Amino acid sequence: MILVTGATGSVGRHVVDGLLKEGQMIRALTRNPAGAQLPAAVEVVAGDLSRPSELPLDGVRAVYLMAMGEHPHETAQVLADAGVTTVVLLSTSEVRDDTEHQPGAIAARHAVFENALERSGLLWTFLRPNEFAGNALQWAPQIQAGDVVRAPYGDAWSAPIHERDVAAVAVRALLDERLHGAKLLLTGPETMTHRDQLHHIATVLGRQLRFEEIPAAAVREKMAAYAPAEIVDALLNSLAEAVGEPATVTTTVYDVTGRRPFTFHEWAAEHEGSFR
Ligand SMILES: NC(=O)c1ccc[n+]([C@@H]2O[C@H](COP(=O)([O-])OP(=O)(O)OC[C@H]3O[C@@H](n4cnc5c(N)ncnc54)[C@H](OP(=O)(O)O)[C@@H]3O)[C@@H](O)[C@H]2O)c1
Repeated sequence: MILVTGATGSVGRHVVDGLLKEGQMIRALTRNPAGAQLPAAVEVVAGDLSRPSELPLDGVRAVYLMAMGEHPHETAQVLADAGVTTVVLLSTSEVRDDTEHQPGAIAARHAVFENALERSGLLWTFLRPNEFAGNALQWAPQIQAGDVVRAPYGDAWSAPIHERDVAAVAVRALLDERLHGAKLLLTGPETMTHRDQLHHIATVLGRQLRFEEIPAAAVREKMAAYAPAEIVDALLNSLAEAVGEPATVTTTVYDVTGRRPFTFHEWAAEHEGSFR
């Protein structure tokens, strides 16, 4: 049995689909089973990573883990005590191995989970994806309403990755012991700016869309309604640092799965309906 946390999330849904294709038994964790909308073959169980001692771990050998909840060390201990052997953590490319001081709150949160797993005696794999292609969905309301996207840092570079590619690597890591102990930097196949991303969406839609740069301060307050201030600052700082800095592209998705990662253009074509 594999426990999939974040099963309702942007990567987790693809992890569920990928494991089902591999014939695996899945228990999906969600805080809201009634709204989970997961395939019938999945055992959907209520649970919250904020309360690790209550996690439904009976018969679970492997866990796809989100860095959620405030108790990383207790979470790792509970998993080890319950007889779980393997954990695949959804971390982030923001985590640095060369310093004790992580560059911001997002990197720090994920680094604490990584450290807890490293000390736990569990077999682990860390997935460190670059920006998700799906972040571009934040522009959907503006694109539905008009031809201008107003956002900060249009010249920030990333190597956007399709969530299905992150999930495909997660599935391999859950099933293949050769990936134990690996810290996998995951990217899409190309580096581009946010302006370039918008251009791909425009091409798919057959429209002229324009990126209009606005100051970070103009979005900080709005974002603070959805996320803690230190996370908002970390997000905006990492965008600021990515201006003029093409992102490193890795071949990890291909190396692990044997197929090339999806391009941002392919992601945009698949999600065309969300922008119409
Ligand atoms: N977005 C990016 O560009 C990016 C890049 C690299 C890494 N990441 C990392 O990827 C992860 C997912 O990010 P996302 O924004 O795409 O979110 P998401 O996966 O779309 O949604 C969050 C998921 O986490 C679950 N969750 C949240 N709090 C939980 C809790 N206390 N206990 C159990 N489950 C909980 C939710 O489940 P329920 O609501 O069903 O309970 C939901 O399935 C984050 O750790 C993020 O830092 C994101």
